[in-house]
Amino acid sequence: MGFVHGMAYFGFAFVGHDRSPGWYYSHVKTALSSAPGAARISQPVPMLDLKRQYAPLQQELQEAVGQVLETQQFILGEYAAEFERAAAGQLGVKHAVGCSSGTDALWLALAAAGVGPGMAVVTTPFSFFASVSAILRSGATALLADIEPRTFHLDAAAVERVLDGEQGGAVRAILPVHLYGQCADWSVWGRLRRERGVQLIEDAAQAWGAEWQGVKAGGLGDAAAFSFYPTKNLSAAGDAGMVATNSEELAERARMLRQHGMRRRYYHDEIGWNTRLDGFQAAILSVKLKYIEGWNQARRRVAERYHALFAAAGLAESGSYPERGVVLPGEATGSRHVWHQYVIRVQRRDALREFLAARAIGSEIYYPVALHMQKALRRLGYAEGSFPEAERAAREVLALPIFPELREDEQATVVAAIAEFLN
Ligand SMILES: Cc1ncc(COP(=O)(O)O)c(C=O)c1O
Repeated sequence: MGFVHGMAYFGFAFVGHDRSPGWYYSHVKTALSSAPGAARISQPVPMLDLKRQYAPLQQELQEAVGQVLETQQFILGEYAAEFERAAAGQLGVKHAVGCSSGTDALWLALAAAGVGPGMAVVTTPFSFFASVSAILRSGATALLADIEPRTFHLDAAAVERVLDGEQGGAVRAILPVHLYGQCADWSVWGRLRRERGVQLIEDAAQAWGAEWQGVKAGGLGDAAAFSFYPTKNLSAAGDAGMVATNSEELAERARMLRQHGMRRRYYHDEIGWNTRLDGFQAAILSVKLKYIEGWNQARRRVAERYHALFAAAGLAESGSYPERGVVLPGEATGSRHVWHQYVIRVQRRDALREFLAARAIGSEIYYPVALHMQKALRRLGYAEGSFPEAERAAREVLALPIFPELREDEQATVVAAIAEFLN
């Protein structure tokens, strides 16, 4: 029942999953009973296995890389231009500007949007470090606001308090993060943009293909930053990133800034940086772009199977915080989640993680330390206790194995191990 409540909160519907609840129940029971004791878990389950993605694409990817070698177009050039065209088309945005990482994409998006010294940007303390460090690198001040406990997204009411506070007048932009592959609730950010005249920069590093009310991440804000780090749902074979925008002016500025502020070769209008997309990464990304929608659909099926397996094991809890079982992640009404990560909340999280590791079951903590508590960010001046939701999330979240090729039996193994730990 709790599970149903929890999911209803998110408007989650059990549509299109491929097994009946009875199947899940018996599957978990089999996994639980087939191997009692510590030796119970019979197979390792990786957190991520990129080799399973590579195997069917091997020939296509090697040909793409071979072509780059043939043409020697190593930096930007035709492969980057081709990827940018296809990427913009898929996202439904006017411009895509490739660069060398998601971190650089965030900085480029901010700098191209005119953010700099004397200004402030509001973001979340519960994200990857780059969401804040990119703001600081732009020369602006980073202001933080707490998160909302169910989605882990930046809390709009908390952001409004910042805007109404002492430093609110300096705020030039808000930087919501589409954490774990789900778009931040854009109806509230769109309203704040209109009412407060701030720009919106999306941190879409984890959200290729995610949607908010039918609009893809990347096309929601004034600009968006994507990462193609190898663990991301759309991944390169190394570091790569991209800025997406519908603004001609912003795209032009980002193109200039990614090449040392040059519009014309060796004539530098501004201090930019070297953050260009390379031909190998672009060629690989162009191949993977053809498959990403199928992979995202597969991720959605994996997430539904986890929901069902946890429900069948009687572990799913309905509140925002875990008591004896686990709080499952959900899909907000109006949102299309691409499940970059499947993140549960659980008590005794670190002990559970060790228990899983002892059974060769992968898991990860995104993120163990809220950003205001990071040594490098003490200078922001926030004390412990400033963002209780972010601090609590940092203690309770655990990301479970999820990737398109993850098998049902592997998922049942993960859930059975968690059930064993909690019971
Ligand atoms: C939310 C978020 N923002 C920014 C980044 C930075 O991307 P990259 O590692 O490509 O620099 C990442 C990925 O690591 C991320 O997850």
